[in-house]
Order: sequence, then structure tokens, then C-alpha cells
Amino acid sequence: MKNILESKEAIISQIKRLTADTKHFTLRFSDLRDREKFNFDFGQFVMLSILGFSEIPLGVCSAPEQKENFEIAVRQAGTTTKGLFKLKLGDKVGIRGPYGKGIKISALKHKNIALVAGGIGLSPLRSIIQHISWHRKDFGRVSLVYGAKNKYELLFSSEYDNWKKTIDVYPTVDEDIGGWTGRVGLVTKICNPKTLKCEKAVAIVCGPPIMYKSVVEKLIGLGFKDKDIYLLLERHMKCGVGLCQHCVCDGKYVCQDGPVFSHEEAKEIKGLI
Ligand SMILES: Cc1cc2nc3c(=O)[nH]c(=O)nc-3n(C[C@H](O)[C@H](O)[C@H](O)COP(=O)(O)OP(=O)(O)OC[C@H]3O[C@@H](n4cnc5c(N)ncnc54)[C@H](O)[C@@H]3O)c2cc1C
Ligand code: FES
Repeated sequence: MKNILESKEAIISQIKRLTADTKHFTLRFSDLRDREKFNFDFGQFVMLSILGFSEIPLGVCSAPEQKENFEIAVRQAGTTTKGLFKLKLGDKVGIRGPYGKGIKISALKHKNIALVAGGIGLSPLRSIIQHISWHRKDFGRVSLVYGAKNKYELLFSSEYDNWKKTIDVYPTVDEDIGGWTGRVGLVTKICNPKTLKCEKAVAIVCGPPIMYKSVVEKLIGLGFKDKDIYLLLERHMKCGVGLCQHCVCDGKYVCQDGPVFSHEEAKEIKGLI
């Protein structure tokens, strides 16, 4: 019988520090067949394991068509992420998945796209940005509004100039701690008719729990429809496949019914946002 919790071995082939508490890892499946098979919809997640620690759910920050390897951005939170941060190039991790309900590329094609992210929430959206930059003619106007606490907390900041060649990028910081010449204020302040186009559009939102309600309210005020607002949500997860009930919210399994929910779905699930 097939073990649905079986992990595949992957090797760490690159590590970059993004911020004081966030690292960007490139992973390559040891078995060529696993590399070829690995495909995912935007917002789906993998379960990562390292010897002696619990498994943790993580999003993928590289595009699905990048087959040789894939990338994750990880913020150090507690025990397992601390263990992961101690690993070096060539060390091995276990990966299973992808899991959950994501966003199909077909749902985004020929649409205007508003990406709204806060903090580590930019990580899964980078996967979409990368895909769009490789298939630019398939999409309408694409805007990214991204907020972080201060300039040192902005993820992937060295990539923005490159992203600006294909999409509109609006970074903002909560606080100017000196040497920042860009926007200051919460992402909701930057979401306006100039930065985001709501006609024939979808919005994709990922960030800290506190961000969702205010961003959704703002997007609806701008004219986005409930069904066209996708929320990438997090819950504590143990199994990732509907067995342990750790992620259950109002009868919904976030690991299987989500982690991507349209606002039309999310507003009917008590306590989800
Ligand atoms: C679908 C999904 C995708 C995710 N993608 C990413 C990602 O791309 N990058 C990333 O850095 N993190 C991501 N996370 C969060 C990541 O899984 C947690 O930070 C990680 O599990 C913490 O494990 P730990 O053992 O280091 O911390 P623990 O020792 O388990 O906990 C440390 C602290 O973090 C809190 N915590 C643990 N898990 C979560 C969670 N799921 N949500 C909110 N708080 C939590 C705990 O309550 C505790 O306060 C994702 C979570 C989900 C559910
Ligand atoms: S994480 Fe186990 S049921 Fe969802």
C-alpha cells in the first residue's frame, strides 16, 4: 500500500539570507523522477521534515515550471525553522506534497492581477510573479503592493528592479527607520485605483492574519468582487492531508479545502479570517 505521508529526499543547493530572520533555500530532489513529477498550483504547500524535528508546512516561492530545483523562503519562528536554519549546503531534507487547493494558472490568464502581500506573505506570490515574467503576454496589468515593518524587513528587495520590467511594484514600510525614500504606511493605504486595476481582475492576498480583513474591505471598496479575491491562509498543521484535524476551522480542513480560499468562501467560514 502506498504511504501517503512518505517524504522524498531533497538536497539544499543554495542558501541566501533575505533578512535578519528569513532565509531563502533552493532545494533539489535527489531523484530525477521526483524533480520531473513535482508540479503545483499557486499557493499550494509542501511539508518539510528534518531529522529530529516536527514537519512544517511551507509555500513555494519559485515558479512551477522551474523543474531542476524549487525554492522556499523561511522565517525563523520556533523549533523546526531554527533547526532548518542550522543546515548547510548539501544537507538533506524530506519533502512531501504539494498539498491543498491552490490557484490554477488558467484562473489568472488574461486578467488584471492585484497582488497584495505583507511580510513573509510575499514568498508564495513570488512564484506567481516569476511565472508572469516568463509568460507576460498571457496577463493584463499586474501590480504588487507589498508591505514590511521597515526597509530591512522587505523580502527579495534585490529583485524589485527586475520585477519592475514586467509588473508594477509598490513596496511600503510601516516605519521609516532612516535611509528609506519610498512609501510609508500600511498596504491598505497603497491600495487605490492608481495602483490596482479592479476591472476584469483578480486579487491575491497573503500576509499576517491581522492584514486580511482590512485589505479585503479595501479591495471590495475599490470594486473587486468576493469571488475574485483569493486569500492564502495559514493554520497550524501537522499532517497536511486531512488526517489530524489540527487545521480544522468551522468544519473546513484548511490543508485540503484551502489554504487558498476565495473571499466568497472565506466569509462563510466562522473564524477563518
Ligand atoms: C500553508 C502554509 C504555508 C506556509 N508557508 C510558509 C512559508 O512559505 N514561509 C514561512 O516562513 N512560513 C510559512 N508557514 C508558517 C510555518 O509553517 C511556521 O512558521 C512553522 O510551522 C513554524 O514551525 P516551528 O517549529 O519553527 O515553530 P513552532 O515551534 O511550532 O512555533 C513557533 C511559533 O510559531 C507559531 N506558529 C507555528 N506554526 C504556525 C502557523 N502555521 N501559522 C502561524 N503561526 C505558527 C507558534 O504558535 C509559535 O508561536 C506556512 C504555514 C502554512 C500553514
Ligand atoms: S493538517 Fe492535519 S488535517 Fe489538516
